[in-house]
Amino acid sequence: MLRNNPSRPCYHFTPPSNWMNDPNGLVYYQGEYHLFYQYHPASTDWGTMHWGHAVSRDLVNWQHLPIALYPDEHGTIFSGSAVIDWQNTAGFGKEAMVAVFTHYREGNRQSQSLAYSLDQGRTWTKYRGNPVLHQPDATPDFRDPKVFWHTEGHWVMSLAAGDTILFHTSPNLINWTLSGSFGSGEYGSTGGVWETPDLFELCVDGSPETRWVLTVGVQGGSTAIGSGTQYFVGSFDGRTFTSENPKDTVLWADHGADYYAAQSWSDEPAGRRIMIGWQNNWLYSGVIPAATWRGSLSLPRQLSLTQTAQGARLVQQPIPELRSLRGRHQHWNNETIVPGTDLLSDIKGEALEIIAEFQADAAVERFGFRVRVGTDEFTTIGFDPRQNNLFMDRSHAGQSGFCNDFAGTHLASFDPPHGIVQLHIFIDCASVEVFSGDGKAVLTDIIFPSEQSQGVELFTEGGTVTLNSLDIYQLNPAEFLT
Ligand code: FRU
Repeated sequence: MLRNNPSRPCYHFTPPSNWMNDPNGLVYYQGEYHLFYQYHPASTDWGTMHWGHAVSRDLVNWQHLPIALYPDEHGTIFSGSAVIDWQNTAGFGKEAMVAVFTHYREGNRQSQSLAYSLDQGRTWTKYRGNPVLHQPDATPDFRDPKVFWHTEGHWVMSLAAGDTILFHTSPNLINWTLSGSFGSGEYGSTGGVWETPDLFELCVDGSPETRWVLTVGVQGGSTAIGSGTQYFVGSFDGRTFTSENPKDTVLWADHGADYYAAQSWSDEPAGRRIMIGWQNNWLYSGVIPAATWRGSLSLPRQLSLTQTAQGARLVQQPIPELRSLRGRHQHWNNETIVPGTDLLSDIKGEALEIIAEFQADAAVERFGFRVRVGTDEFTTIGFDPRQNNLFMDRSHAGQSGFCNDFAGTHLASFDPPHGIVQLHIFIDCASVEVFSGDGKAVLTDIIFPSEQSQGVELFTEGGTVTLNSLDIYQLNPAEFLT
């Protein structure tokens, strides 16, 4: 176990030591989910980027592996993706695992390069013709290639360029042709530079009807504070993406402060679209408390789309594999919660899963849970039926002096059908993730409480609320082998 610091999560991915940011190169091959990540092996601060590496058979328990990609004469290794070249289009060898990444050099020179592995990602060779895609002179930002094989028979690369996503196609991963662009400062949130795109097709409500979803990290101006992950819904014709929503529609994958640079796995064996994000924010990632390591990832989430009155919208659920962490279980049914009572006075924990269903009454001001409760500390997760807002308030969560904007409340609005509010909450030492509205409203926030703050409370303000059901599980640590 790597638990050398009270705020190291028990079941969220963290690097063995030093700095981590974006997840990179997510690909499944021969029984293993590969996770590469932006890694600075010499410091707990961002710096000379490498690709760290880990593998998992279930996306819950992980084996750390040696660094996969080191800086070279073309620069340091920024974010990117990985694919299995099933048809050997690049000629690197049978079933080569190919990493497509950004080489970064001083002066903001950014170009796209390749590396390949013929031994399940254990050793890597850089392509000798690197870089394969040069930065156009007029484009200051040109990075984070996410590549997939399109059914029309070519590779597609989504690439972030300022406030635009560029699309390139290739027969062989080596020769790329610009095929389209989306954004140009006119769509969605443009409060900061766009980064780390992903593009995939999802079914709507499990039917054969599909839409394409383009996810984009935006470095500033997110719905909470600082950086955040937005998404667009529309169509993709093999060359370019078209949004089906008005230009000023802004859709957030997560309404908390800490879900960034999200990426999904290629070749997931059950055909699921599973996404994971950096549980952090560029606003304060460099100053959050750190001991020997800094940075963590969110839980993996399974994605789908659902039709709403406004159009097709993203649904995210924690992957079912996480149930393997469940330990001691307690259950309640049909409880009436009155202001000032405390049903959960004997519950303690810093690694918990809470699944609750409330019947909201419009007369109630707010209801929900306080978690990581200590003498002066608590984090509040609740619902405000008068505003139809799901919220997370980390103003009193613990340490926050490292950034003025850290303490605060983050909101996701949703209309609970028949007044039924479900909260599915994961608490893991230094983070809280909340899934609500059947996965349509998600909030992720990191927190820094003291180790002793382990209480859990149910609360209601302004009236009574009915708790239809409540399940609380103590969660066991996941395995992180080194
Ligand atoms: C996103 C990002 C990417 C870049 C990487 C550098 O968080 O800024 O655009 O490739 O991090 O570490």
